[in-house]
Amino acid sequence: MKIGVDYYPEQWDRALWKSDSDLMAKTGVKLVRMGEFAWSKLEPRDGQFDFEWLDEAISTFSRHAIGIVLCVPTSCPPLWMYETYPDIVQVGPDGNRIQTGIRGHRCLNAPMFIYYAKRITEQLARRYANNPAIAAWQIDNELEAYPCTCETCRGLFRDWLIDKYDTLDNINKAFGNSVWSSEYSDISQIQPPTAYPKAWQNPALCLDFARFSSDTVVKFVSDMSQIIKLENPRAKVTSNTFFCENAPDYYKLFSALDFTSYDNYPPVKLAGETEELSSHAFELDFMRGIRQRNFWVMEQLSGATGSWSPMGATPRPGQIKGYAMQAMAHGADTVMHFRWRTAVKGAEMFWHGLIDHSNVPSRRFEEFAELCKTASKLSVIETTELVSDVAILYSPDNYWAFNIQPQTEGFDYLQQLRYFHAAFTRYGTNVDIISPTSDLTKYKAVVAPAMYIYEKAAAENIYRYVIKGGTLIMTNRSGVKDTCNNCIMEPLPTVYREMIGAEVSEYDPIGETEQTISDFAGNKFTCRQWCDILKLTTARAYAEYKDSFYAGKPAVTMNRYCSGVTYYVGTVCKMDFYESLAGNIMKQTGIPRLKDLTKGVEVTTRTNGLDDYIFFFNNSEEEADITLPKPMYSIIDGNEKDKLTLMPFDMDIVRK
Ligand code: GLA
Ligand code: ZN
Repeated sequence: MKIGVDYYPEQWDRALWKSDSDLMAKTGVKLVRMGEFAWSKLEPRDGQFDFEWLDEAISTFSRHAIGIVLCVPTSCPPLWMYETYPDIVQVGPDGNRIQTGIRGHRCLNAPMFIYYAKRITEQLARRYANNPAIAAWQIDNELEAYPCTCETCRGLFRDWLIDKYDTLDNINKAFGNSVWSSEYSDISQIQPPTAYPKAWQNPALCLDFARFSSDTVVKFVSDMSQIIKLENPRAKVTSNTFFCENAPDYYKLFSALDFTSYDNYPPVKLAGETEELSSHAFELDFMRGIRQRNFWVMEQLSGATGSWSPMGATPRPGQIKGYAMQAMAHGADTVMHFRWRTAVKGAEMFWHGLIDHSNVPSRRFEEFAELCKTASKLSVIETTELVSDVAILYSPDNYWAFNIQPQTEGFDYLQQLRYFHAAFTRYGTNVDIISPTSDLTKYKAVVAPAMYIYEKAAAENIYRYVIKGGTLIMTNRSGVKDTCNNCIMEPLPTVYREMIGAEVSEYDPIGETEQTISDFAGNKFTCRQWCDILKLTTARAYAEYKDSFYAGKPAVTMNRYCSGVTYYVGTVCKMDFYESLAGNIMKQTGIPRLKDLTKGVEVTTRTNGLDDYIFFFNNSEEEADITLPKPMYSIIDGNEKDKLTLMPFDMDIVRK
């Protein structure tokens, strides 16, 4: 397993590059990422390139056999470009051009920006794509599907709509433009959703604009990637992503690239008594699910974070090493720490790296050094991957549509997925988070939370899965909208009704109000946010409401459909309900459960088909003891053990 660091040669004296590379080599660093924001150093004036410093930086590190992740610096065009071509700057949803002086201002559709972006990428690729020191390429930085509303984007959005709907008449119908006299009589009248107030905009228009903005990002990365591949078809190209408000369609984004990479900043402070979820295991499983392959962490927590916000607590002892190992437990094959050194200049000087301003390597660095040592002993897991019995479906359309129209106080689409993830992983089983159109046949249970927007391929895929004997769990707000983001005129959950064997006779968006449901065995659970009042057709009640005018009516159902089983959860509960439901479903479907796992201990398994390696991670602030069912060999310390004692954030890996 490889550990790397993010490094900014342009921010440090050359003498430091030399001593840093020596220390990296001694510590066991295998990769260094560079070049990400350095466009003004690489092209100080239009068409004048300076690669001498980058040549030297690359050779300084590669001399120690440290591989280079070279970045295409398109996130930060030099100021001369903005001055000459002010049109390349993004225009915000309010119609105003954003101010330059920070980073990430470029509009990914602006023709002159694309011209320069392609040229710098081509220059870098020609010079370095065949350099054996280059391990991978990163395009831009944390690309968001930013809703730019500049003239170019407006024009392209109109073309995108015509391409999709063919005629203005079709667009008018798809958007329901007879509402509020919004009918387009000329294509020039189509505008991105910039009107105020935001909440009054047409949801169908908003969803298509989100899709268009995402397609923009996908096109950009695939264009840049192609330029690199022209020089070296075997080059490995990625882009570092994260969970952002303007999330692109991660599936499309990374299908245009060679592997997924993720910026991983897990929480330093764990959830308190009142919160329920804090593990970053969800994010990691999500990243692995994008391509259903192992992934890289391109940036990993290294110190106290802050800069544009007040600083948060410094990582607790164990977290630097433990969180990197947690990422590996969920499929990361490479973890790069952000960053080797804490900046002394610029806006990010308080987003701490491994080495502090003092320039004296301290506690966090020591722990990082230990991580490098441990990782170097884990080559045996490099060829392993996670195989899961449980899948949770994430859809970009649903994500965008819920952002456009929040359903009720507290309701959060991603949180719906997180509850189920936390519930199943609580029993030590692997969980995949994947696209609703992925192959589902290998899963023993599939959770399809809030399948809000209808997508034909996804609905057919889900039906096929159940018909052939799968066990499906669906939740409230499913089948609500058609593909255009308009409501479907049928009882909910519309297209899924037959399979669910129940329908929603009325719903009650109760927001933060808490009510109670009781399951078939009389166990009581708190519910909130939303109550679907269900009418059974072929299903049976699994749980019923205890309050309000619908006391006694089904809240959760279970149905046999063809060879499969479907559960429908019409409300949103607290963790104890999801744990109980997941436990029951695992029992029914024969998914192995680890019972009595100490809270906070996370268990995953990576396999190469012959050997299984079980990762035990103590994601808590208390020491944890785990009794193994039989003596097993630890690949961390080479001892045979029948009991593990894990300090906070400690990890052990045993061969089954
Ligand atoms: C993100 C970016 C980095 C840096 C870090 C910390 O993850 O990718 O460039 O800004 O945040 O601030
Ligand atoms: Zn634009």
